[in-house]
Amino acid sequence: MAGTHPIVDVHTHMYPPSYISLLSSRKEVPYIHTPSSGDPRLIILPSDDDASKPPEQRGRPVDTSYSSFSEKLKFMSTHGITCSVISLANPWLDFLDPSTAAKTAHQINSDLDAACQQQNATSSALKLYAFASLPLSAPVPEIVSSIHSLATLSHTKGVIIGTSGLGLGLDDPALEPIYAALASTRTMVFLHPHYGLPASSFGPTAANYGHVLPLALGFPLETTIAITRVYLSGVFDRHPDLSFLLAHSGGTLPFLAGRIESCVAHEREFTVNGGDKPGPRRSIWDVLKTNVYLDAVNYGEPGMKAALAAAGGEDGQGWDRLMFGTDHPFFPPLAGEEKWLSVESNLRAIEGVCAGDEARKAKILGGNAIRVLGLDA
Ligand code: URA
Ligand code: ZN
Repeated sequence: MAGTHPIVDVHTHMYPPSYISLLSSRKEVPYIHTPSSGDPRLIILPSDDDASKPPEQRGRPVDTSYSSFSEKLKFMSTHGITCSVISLANPWLDFLDPSTAAKTAHQINSDLDAACQQQNATSSALKLYAFASLPLSAPVPEIVSSIHSLATLSHTKGVIIGTSGLGLGLDDPALEPIYAALASTRTMVFLHPHYGLPASSFGPTAANYGHVLPLALGFPLETTIAITRVYLSGVFDRHPDLSFLLAHSGGTLPFLAGRIESCVAHEREFTVNGGDKPGPRRSIWDVLKTNVYLDAVNYGEPGMKAALAAAGGEDGQGWDRLMFGTDHPFFPPLAGEEKWLSVESNLRAIEGVCAGDEARKAKILGGNAIRVLGLDA
């Protein structure tokens, strides 16, 4: 698959050393617990903190693939990836004490930026950039300041956020100054799931299927609901310069956009239909072509086709709005293979939709990320 064009991974995570120390210092979710034998264990969801299991079986092991830059570079070499835009993995900094959140975020973002800078100063073959994390538990003026201060981080190309916002979701009116700051600084917002759906959605036998239901369905539906709430609350009407990059190709948004458009058109609560609620003014299709980019992390050709079609059409600018990603270090090979199935299936699906068109493939694999994020890759 590797060719002469750059391959840029826009969806690749780390828990860098400063974040690991932060989690290791905590006793409440999220935290890292180091048992007397084996890898440290990461407990990131209340459901991981299962007191019926011994501590050494709670959560998931965090080996060095989560925290080591050399492991990231090794993974990139294995798959011919020439540039990675690294983001903290969930749950980012959503849980920080409000009084120290902005300072901690600045420290962690600066450390990640410095590591990318150091790598790029020593290698032109494997480049690193970062998406910063916002101190969303801090007072709003401090969050706004931290957005403006990202301009001082030369290798930071946007921010990653989850779906909770300030605690009430991404259609919370209290987020207005934050959206205004993100739009005026032209900061890309990488929206990523973490909280999933309520366990009750999956029924009493869900545990028989391990993590399949929450990961395969809970994650993408969480993203779909979050971005739809952003759209419905008119955020894109008020902030036309805002840009979102949606994880996992927007969850199910590409498939459901037509249904969302239809339900909006029929909604009597909205002023256009005689109601007294504002409702969104722009078409979801317009927002998808103007404010939204999709990563190409959906593991199959039908999903990739839907993403392309929703992003601007298979005959139009859809090719300019999809960006390759891997979700490394999640979904590692279980049987010790060198190549990661999770990566190979995304690459195959991209190959499939490009059907031999090298220029289109080059855009999805790296050209779009380089252009949109302003990478020197
Ligand atoms: N599981 C997670 O917790 N995060 C990811 O990004 C992917 C899988
Ligand atoms: Zn991810």
